[in-house]
Parts: sequence; C-alpha cells; structure tokens
Amino acid sequence: MTTNNYPRRRFLQHSVLGTVLAAFPEFLLANDSKIKSRATLGFNADVEVDFTAQSAFVPVFSGGTQTQVQKFYASIRKGPENTLQTLPDNYLGPILHLQKGQKVRVYFTNKLSEPTIIHWHGLHVPQFSDGHPMYTINQGEQYIYEFEVLNRAGTSFYHSHAHELTAEQVYRGLAGLIVVSDTDEKKLELPRGEYDLPLVIQDRNFTANNQLQYLQSMPQRMMGFLGDHILVNGKPNAEFKVKSRAYRFRAVNGSNSRIYKLGWEDGTPLLAIGTDAGLLASPEQKPYIMLAPGERVDLWLDFSHRELGSKLVMYSLAFSGVMPTMYEHMFNHRNDENRGMHMQHSLAQGSQFPIATFTIIEKVGDSPALPEKLVPFQRLSIGAVDNVDTPIPIALSMQHMTPTLNGKTFSMDRVLDVERVALGSYKKISIFHDQQHVHGGMGMMRRRQSTDDNVQNRGGMGGMGGMGGMGGMGGMGGMMEMAHPIHLHGQQFQIIKRHTSDVNESAYNSVKYGFIENGWKDTVLVMPGEKVDIIKPFQDFKGLFLYHCHNLEHEDLGMMRQFLIS
Ligand code: C2O
Ligand code: CU
Repeated sequence: MTTNNYPRRRFLQHSVLGTVLAAFPEFLLANDSKIKSRATLGFNADVEVDFTAQSAFVPVFSGGTQTQVQKFYASIRKGPENTLQTLPDNYLGPILHLQKGQKVRVYFTNKLSEPTIIHWHGLHVPQFSDGHPMYTINQGEQYIYEFEVLNRAGTSFYHSHAHELTAEQVYRGLAGLIVVSDTDEKKLELPRGEYDLPLVIQDRNFTANNQLQYLQSMPQRMMGFLGDHILVNGKPNAEFKVKSRAYRFRAVNGSNSRIYKLGWEDGTPLLAIGTDAGLLASPEQKPYIMLAPGERVDLWLDFSHRELGSKLVMYSLAFSGVMPTMYEHMFNHRNDENRGMHMQHSLAQGSQFPIATFTIIEKVGDSPALPEKLVPFQRLSIGAVDNVDTPIPIALSMQHMTPTLNGKTFSMDRVLDVERVALGSYKKISIFHDQQHVHGGMGMMRRRQSTDDNVQNRGGMGGMGGMGGMGGMGGMGGMMEMAHPIHLHGQQFQIIKRHTSDVNESAYNSVKYGFIENGWKDTVLVMPGEKVDIIKPFQDFKGLFLYHCHNLEHEDLGMMRQFLIS
C-alpha cells in the first residue's frame, strides 16, 4: 500500500555528502547498529509489553467502508493492568501508561510488508531504545527495547521513525500516546481517570471510499502534507460529552505538518499546566496556544460554571507567516495557474476551523481547583553551559528544493564536528534560518515568480520593500523561509530566548502570544526570521541521538541530523 522503492531509498541515505563530514569510528557503528533481538540478562523489567505494527481496517467514519491503516497493537506480558489503554475502532495505537522509575521492556514485531521502527518521542532513553532509523526492522523481525522511565510526569507519544518512511507511516496510523506519571504529580489534585483525556490532533485526506490519501507532489512534500479533515483521537468531527467540572486535556499535535493555534470559540483563555514532557511550575494563561507537529500541551479546562446542554468549541484560529512569504502570496491569489501547480489546499495552513466540540451533559459539584503551584522546576541559567560564545548551530535552509540542517541532509553514519558533544555537558544551541544556503532552492521559485505576472503586478512579491523584516536577510532568501518545528531526541531542553528582530512583524503578531517558553521542551517552532536559543543537557547516555524537523515531510526529505554524545 505504500512505496515499494525503499531499496533505492535506503541506498540514497548512504550517499557521501562532502568532505567536511567526519565518519565516526568504524567500531562504533559496527557495535551500535545491530538490531537488538535479545533481552538483556540482569535488566529486570517491571513492565513487559508486546508491540506489533500491522496493516488493519478500522472504522474511521461511522458509516461506509472501513479505512485501511497501519496500526500499532500491544498486549501486556508483565506489569500493571492499566499499562495499556486501547482506543476503540481506532488507527492510533493504545495509550501507554508508565510510571517514573519503571523498567520497561518492549518486544516489537514488524508485521508490515515494509521496514519500520518505533521511537518513544519525549522519553529519555538509551540510543538502542530510541528508535534510531539504523535499527529499522523488516517484516517478521523483532526489536527489543529496554529502558527505565527517567521522565517526570507528562505527555509524550510514540511513532514510526523509519527513515524516508516516517511521514507516510505516521500518516497511515503508526502513532500512539504515552502518559507518564510520578509522585510529584500524584500529590496534586489534578483531574484523573475519565477527566483526563487525550486530544491527539491530526489532519488527513480521504478518498470518496474512506481511504487515506497521502499526497506526493514535490511542492506538497516541500511544504508538508496538509489534509482537509481534522481528526481528534482518530475520529473526524470530534465531540466530547463532559461534566460541569475541571478536565485535563493532553493535546498532542500528531499531524505531519499542520500547525494549530488552539483557542476556545468564546475567547475563554487557555490554561496550560504542562508542555512537551512535563508539568509546568505553575499554570500559564494564554489567549491561544501554538501547537506545532511533535509538540504537546496539557490544558486545564473547567466547565464548572457552564450550563447544562451548552457547547464549547475548540478552534484552530487564523494565523499567518509560517509558510514561505512567496508561497503565501501565490496561495492567496487564487488564479488558475496556481491551482494547476497543486499548491492549493482546501484547508490552508493558518486558516480557521473547528477542532472539537465539548457538550456539558451533566452537572456535578466535585471539581478540583486549579493548583497555584504544580511541580518544582529549575530554570537553567546560561552559566550552566560550557559554550556560551560558541553555540551549536542548527541552521535551517532550503537548498535545491531540499530542506537541510547546517547545509546537510541526513546521513546514517556521519556526524559533523559541531555534532560531537561530551557526555554530561550542557550546551547552548542556536536554531536559526541560514541565509547562505537558500540560493539553490530559489531557482525554481524565481522562475515561477517571473511567469506569474498577476502576482507581480499586484506588488505582492515583487515589492521587496514591502516585506516587513526582510531587511538584512540577503535578498530573496527570506522568501523561502518557513516555520520549522525542530525536535531534539534525548533529554528535554529549555528555551532561553527567541530573537525576533528579523521576523515579519505583522505575521509574527498573529502567533507570538501562543508560545510557552517555560518548562521543558523537546520540540520548538522556529518562525521565519526567528532565531531561538535553547539550553540542552546531554546526560546519562552516550551514542547517537537525532535532531530533526518534525514537519514529517521535511524529516523524510533529509532535514535530520544526529549528535554523537561521547
Ligand atoms: Cu517525534 Cu525523531 O521524532
Ligand atoms: Cu521543516
């Protein structure tokens, strides 16, 4: 059902990229790239789970033909009964409930007719349990993961990480939620059980026959897949029946490339109690929250004072500026030529649409109150890093229609010097848009622009002077910049500063109040023109840990690299 050309793809990923790259010692790769197919003696697991990935048919829609998907199934060998929570009639895998401190062993068997591997996004685990694509297994093979849950209480998710197949496999269903709890969280009176709900938000396209449609034209891959059906927890037109009390919603953006601007229809502010993989020190109130692919936010919503029968709709509100300026301008001119280029989606990135409806069906009086303080949190200071003046660069660019990091695409067995990190160190990392590497990518866009007189005459793109924030951005370069959600494997990081002097101000204004800068993150949305500085600890595990764009089309196009921690 998916591509059958992965032998070619697998060959490509080993192509030699250039001389600045240093292959790491042969022994490392030889020892580390082995499929782990044996349980480690002496690793006494508290939890043992079998996982499979397989093709399945599920009723995504309530009527009509079932949808063919790829799905994770799981069953418990050992451990607490509630470790796995199945979502009925769903392509999403079961919710994995873990406790901090548990030792977990997962036996993963691939029953698909193509390679795959699972990554536990957000969990801080050893390299061999991180789902690095070098561990991709074929049909019938098994991979054994072993890790201790080191994370604090929070929301994470697992998904396929087979290089060049990730986007399509996640799209076809290979993902699921991870809920970690710990003793700090248990001390708090937070909504639990039926009042603690997942909100896995995804977009999909379907054929008239309810089958998933994954788009492959090059411009679409470059920008990222956008679907016109919004699904929550695997279902379109999501409706939740709720009681008049407080809830915790674990929102996960599991979409390939769509970014959401979460907001309540009636202007009720959002209350965030957690970010990517942990509770915040204290709740934060926001008018809206930006949620890019890979990001999570735990929301507190109290329906206490709402009337029986009333409804509240969660929207993705309108915003702009995440797509390349050139694309937004072309897109906004709905002429036939642009339509012919397949760049038009019925649900554009940044348009407004409902996500889910909440109906109050019962009055209750047992609501907990929002705690003022949540969990202890230590803000990392710049003094903790050993490279204040020489931050590790993550330069984002589009070259020859390929999105890259530091001018390079992914290579399974190479690292750059800047990607070598000492175990135990804290590093400052600067993520920014690279002005030097855009030219190759501009060729095509320039041709397109010159054939589109319409757009030029209206001054939309031609008038560079009108592009707010374009100054100092190296001419046309900025026109191809788009927002990238950058995810780093391993330990969570903290955001120390967003530098916004080069952003397009009017577009940035439509998103800027929606970022949560406190708390621990593993994915950060970097807007066009923006530079984001983070501090990341590299503790506990040596080895190769990926970082990449979580726009999954970009990831598969090679916008991925790795750190070698040694
Ligand atoms: Cu959620 Cu490397 O990814
Ligand atoms: Cu990207």
